[in-house]
Amino acid sequence: MQQSRAETGTPIPAPAPAAAPAGEPAPTGATEIFQLRGLTCRYGGFTAVRDISLDIQRNEITAIIGPSGCGKSTLLRCLNRMNDLVEGTRVTGEVIYNGEDIYAPHIDPVEVRRRIGMVFQEPNPFPKSIYDNVAFGPKLEGHRSDLDDIVESSLRQAALWDEVKGKLKQSALSLSGGQQQRLCIARALAVEPDVILMDEPASALDPIATLRIEDLMEELKRSYSIVIVTHNMQQAARISDKTAFVTVRVENETDERTGELVEFDDTTRIFTAAADQRTEDYVTGRFG
Ligand SMILES: Nc1ncnc2c1ncn2[C@@H]1O[C@H](COP(=O)(O)OP(=O)(O)OP(=O)(O)O)[C@@H](O)[C@H]1O
Ligand SMILES: [Mg+2]
Repeated sequence: MQQSRAETGTPIPAPAPAAAPAGEPAPTGATEIFQLRGLTCRYGGFTAVRDISLDIQRNEITAIIGPSGCGKSTLLRCLNRMNDLVEGTRVTGEVIYNGEDIYAPHIDPVEVRRRIGMVFQEPNPFPKSIYDNVAFGPKLEGHRSDLDDIVESSLRQAALWDEVKGKLKQSALSLSGGQQQRLCIARALAVEPDVILMDEPASALDPIATLRIEDLMEELKRSYSIVIVTHNMQQAARISDKTAFVTVRVENETDERTGELVEFDDTTRIFTAAADQRTEDYVTGRFG
């Protein structure tokens, strides 16, 4: 199946209700939110990742780890059709989200990206006020009278409200890096996504700010499903429920370097009893 660039179409199916009230345990018996089947992503003639199949569970944190250039960001961007925005990208296979392939011709990629939000490595707030950053998405969706409530609840969920409630009209660029990253998380939450994709969200932050983001993710997984790319083994081990290890396969004859999934399992298993030697070598620091 080839990627469609159609920007119109019928909406994707509504997510099942999932949130547990704060203070209560996250729902158990989580079911798949994503089913990847033979996912391959090419940039022009270059195959960046090949034949990835795995299931991602609702209300869990799934980590993607692997050496630089193995295709982690590529894989993550395939999950919300962000790669559509990269000229020459071709995605084949299936990314089944809530039971439907998000690359099917009738699916609207803009709606996909609304449901499946993304937070990047470098905090990237708009050069606008703190308030306007969070209100941006909801405004586009036509919210008016309830904007104050949405801004407050999103900032609270991102554990930033107490630090900024007295200066909502100040520029977002006046915040610290860790605060800017939490603002970007609040901005992603403001449109009520179902899934949050995070590409090394803490790599530009100091250890304290990193722990705050990790605590926040632990809290957010009650209501959201999170997929995180990280280079930090301790971070993956601390926060994730499942871990996917991706590595680069080099073809001897052509020197083509393609990302392949080596192993996907419970995080504790990946870190203590990996089935594949390559995984063990990577998580123990002998390779990569
Ligand atoms: N827009 C693009 N056009 C062409 N090739 C690309 C593009 N983006 C990524 N690639 C290539 O695809 C491969 C995977 O890149 P990707 O950024 O997904 O790796 P990564 O695992 O996220 O690496 P890192 O850990 O360094 O962030 C690399 O060989 C990269 O050069
Ligand atoms: Mg990357």
